[in-house]
Amino acid sequence: MSGGEIKGVILAGGLGSRLMPLTKVTNKHLLPIYDRPMIHYPLECLVKGGIRDVLIVTGGDSAGHFLKLLGSGADFGARIYYAYQQGEGGIADALRLAEAFIAGSRVAVVLGDNILQQTIRPSVERFSAQPRGARILLKEVPDPQRFGVAEVKGERVQGIVEKPKEPKSNLAVTGIYFYDAQVFDIIRTLKPSGRGELEITDVNNAYLERGQLEWDRVEGWWSDAGTFESLYKASTLVREGGANLG
Ligand code: DAU
Repeated sequence: MSGGEIKGVILAGGLGSRLMPLTKVTNKHLLPIYDRPMIHYPLECLVKGGIRDVLIVTGGDSAGHFLKLLGSGADFGARIYYAYQQGEGGIADALRLAEAFIAGSRVAVVLGDNILQQTIRPSVERFSAQPRGARILLKEVPDPQRFGVAEVKGERVQGIVEKPKEPKSNLAVTGIYFYDAQVFDIIRTLKPSGRGELEITDVNNAYLERGQLEWDRVEGWWSDAGTFESLYKASTLVREGGANLG
């Protein structure tokens, strides 16, 4: 069964400990990227990709500030829903909270600290045409050991390793993921990693084992914003190149 509705999820929980003391009294995703709060970018990424029903998963003490900032989503052309992640159990733990919201549809997940220059619409369309499974977005980077890294042979992903010391390629797995409803069954099978988190890389490898993992290359620039350097870089990229997500 291909097609069907795609709903959006933005994961904006976590403690942002790598950005202390900036994150001591606020949530990482409320910090500025050039002229806007960080959370605006993943929201715009989904809306301009054609996805209007969006669940924001957040946590910590500043969760109420997201409501104040984004409200119903009407100003952004979206319908926004909210969920609260207790603690910091990992990206897949945060996604788990979206099960009732997704309710058997398909989901486009964007990590709240990921910023893309260009629209994800072509990937949304390819995912819609896919009969089942998952789709990830890969991007060449100079520092792959900071990310999930995909080994690709021909056009197929062979495996993904989370933050490898000796990366087998320079292809980072970006924080934009497309899944069918199997994702919630897969999350139920996960065990916490060495860093005590349910890892999204384990989810992607589970789809790979089922022979159901597709991928696209990100066109234009991509950055996360979870470290001082990448936060600074993301602001500079937006200032100079604009986040032309349309
Ligand atoms: O940016 C892409 C990378 O994101 C991928 O290449 C990695 O495979 C993936 O594991 C992730 O790596 P990070 O270590 O950078 O993830 P981080 O812990 O910074 O979390 C990224 C976002 O996910 C964060 O901005 C909010 C959300 N998150 C994270 C955790 C740990 C949650 O909502 N809840 C959580 O418990």
